[in-house]
Amino acid sequence: MRKPVLILGGYGNFGRRIATALATDPDMELLIAGRDQTKAAALAQALGAHARPVMLDHTSSDFRERLAALKPKVLIHTSGPFQGQDLHIVEACIAAGCHYVDIADGRDYVGGIRRLDEAARQAGVLVASGASSLPALSSAVVDEGRSAFSRLDSIESGISAGAKPPGLATMEGVLSYVGKPFLRLENGVWRTVHGWQDIVSRRYPSPLGRRWLGSCDVPDLDLFPERYPGVRTVVFRAGVGFTVTTLATWLFSWLVRAGLLGNLARWASPLHRLAGTLEPLGSVWSAMHVTLTGMDDAQQPATRTWLLLAGNNDGPNIPCFPAIALTRKLVRGEVTERGAMPCMGLLTVEEILTAIPGLDLKWACHNCRAGEDSGPDH
Ligand SMILES: NC(=O)c1ccc[n+]([C@@H]2O[C@H](COP(=O)([O-])OP(=O)(O)OC[C@H]3O[C@@H](n4cnc5c(N)ncnc54)[C@H](OP(=O)(O)O)[C@@H]3O)[C@@H](O)[C@H]2O)c1
Repeated sequence: MRKPVLILGGYGNFGRRIATALATDPDMELLIAGRDQTKAAALAQALGAHARPVMLDHTSSDFRERLAALKPKVLIHTSGPFQGQDLHIVEACIAAGCHYVDIADGRDYVGGIRRLDEAARQAGVLVASGASSLPALSSAVVDEGRSAFSRLDSIESGISAGAKPPGLATMEGVLSYVGKPFLRLENGVWRTVHGWQDIVSRRYPSPLGRRWLGSCDVPDLDLFPERYPGVRTVVFRAGVGFTVTTLATWLFSWLVRAGLLGNLARWASPLHRLAGTLEPLGSVWSAMHVTLTGMDDAQQPATRTWLLLAGNNDGPNIPCFPAIALTRKLVRGEVTERGAMPCMGLLTVEEILTAIPGLDLKWACHNCRAGEDSGPDH
């Protein structure tokens, strides 16, 4: 018997990729949900007999009742931006007795999910927030890499996207903190930094080459100092394949910081269209890195860098992997954890990166033990 899995934002940029991956799963019936019936119906039809469209607005007054009537086994929430969003969707899932998985990148949202831990336990459901690149994949990489350290001092990570623009919600979320202050742990001290400032250039292997990355306000900045006690620095930066785009965002961040511009999220729609126009000029390659530094078992200074490269515009699938992998495990009854938590410790790197086979992905760990943490052709 197929279990209903509802994807909120199911025809959006990431929702559509998640739906397409899960459509081949024999255990599931997919409910493609959003506010646009035409888009939901078109995708459901393309996915085949075991997908159906659902008109569902999570801001509507009868959302809770509608969700309860649909009786999903799992709800996957992709309907960002998550920055500033409250937990009403999670509460509705708990009330309906369905598991909840999201791809949130809002720092307060992902960390704040733990407020609903007791309610989720009592309902016997799992609520996992951030089943995406951050913090699910990033923490899985650190979990596996930290065993090489007797003392872990620093976690520095970053993502450089290709030119393919994300969806509007992602643009809104990222632009919302450009130039805005936030706290980050550096050398044991919580310091104020500003979104998309403190930029660095990093050389990735060919064909990516040099890419610029700016500071981002992400859940890992709070979650990692708790999860890895003793760590003194946690930094995350991101950028895009177009140098000019990252540098322009950096320039705008100064205007926001100086009070000359308000929240850049209001420009998300035109900037999203511009990014779409520029896409053919840019790179199809994206990358993610996680660098750990500390002391090894012999009390010698040690550094290891985990690197993921994606070609062929396959990079935008990566944020979907953890949600896909976790939903499969939930539907098959392979996850026993219950409660509300950031999505950490629920999936391994291997489980995440094999969620969609056949993509142009390579990952490897430098300065690691032979054969450790690499795939699929290393
Ligand atoms: N944690 C991470 O590492 C990570 C990485 C990448 C992205 N993300 C997050 O992923 C989220 C989704 O990004 P995306 O690029 O897929 O955005 P998107 O293409 O704009 O998709 C958002 C979807 O939500 C739907 N939606 C919006 N408001 C709704 C409502 N009130 N009720 C029901 N559905 C609604 C939209 O359809 P309608 O407007 O037609 O309803 C759309 O289908 C973003 O918030 C981003 O921050 C996280």
